[in-house]
Amino acid sequence: MSTIVAVLNQKGGVGKTTTAINLAAALAKQSKTVLVVDLDPQANATSGLAIDKSKLQTSVYDVLVNGAASSTAIIESSVGGLYVLPAAPTLAAAEQELVSVMSRETVLKNALTGVEFDYILIDCPPSLGLLSVNALVAANAVLIPVQTEFYALEGLGLLMQTIQRVQAGLNPQLQLLGIVMTMMDARNALSKQVVDEVKKHFGGHLFETCIPRNVRLAESPSFGKTIFEHDKWSKGARAYKALAREVVTR
Ligand SMILES: Nc1ncnc2c1ncn2[C@@H]1O[C@H](COP(=O)(O)OP(=O)(O)OP(=O)(O)O)[C@@H](O)[C@H]1O
Ligand SMILES: [Mg+2]
Repeated sequence: MSTIVAVLNQKGGVGKTTTAINLAAALAKQSKTVLVVDLDPQANATSGLAIDKSKLQTSVYDVLVNGAASSTAIIESSVGGLYVLPAAPTLAAAEQELVSVMSRETVLKNALTGVEFDYILIDCPPSLGLLSVNALVAANAVLIPVQTEFYALEGLGLLMQTIQRVQAGLNPQLQLLGIVMTMMDARNALSKQVVDEVKKHFGGHLFETCIPRNVRLAESPSFGKTIFEHDKWSKGARAYKALAREVVTR
């Protein structure tokens, strides 16, 4: 059975997509088979993995709304072992179109039934709407990237409540895989305070690995490359490799 991980934080720009892509690539480097499901109409994970979202025949939208089989939409990326269920901007309409569908929260779960990879990572949009709820219902675990900044904890309460509501209802199996601090600046005293603060609230849920602020991570999607193809010796690459090791042991 696949381990399905929803990469979720309703806050925008905290590093969800960067984490989904590079954690997936790190797992693939450890000889795991990995699928990235792009569940964000911005389609950043799709373009970050060098897939032209304007030329897609079939995307996750068709899978969710038109009942297309996932297998017809899944594409192999340029990284060995790493596959993508891509998104196109049309996905923005899905949130509305699914509202009237029966079992609208379980559409993704049903679509992923029988789809076998070691890991399936779902890159969620920055909201707690129906797409993100579908991710939580389909997943076994949630990974929350938190940007190392003053407002880091803001919104985490609501996110935890949403996770608990899904656990109490549609998906009792759902677990919190962990919280990963992103864009950490180790030389900045505030960064350390923020990490301590998150640790105080979430203790053992915090991954030991913090993802540093690293320009190589920021620029790699513009080349359609994961950090390992772009600069495998960068601090960013080493951090995602370490995070992958932690994810496998959890
Ligand atoms: N560790 C990092 N170091 C430097 N830049 C980073 C890092 N992580 C992410 N970024 C940059 O910060 C921006 C936001 O990151 P990303 O797109 O991964 O966040 P997101 O949570 O997926 O955003 P959205 O909510 O819009 O989907 C991007 O420009 C990305 O390249
Ligand atoms: Mg994103």
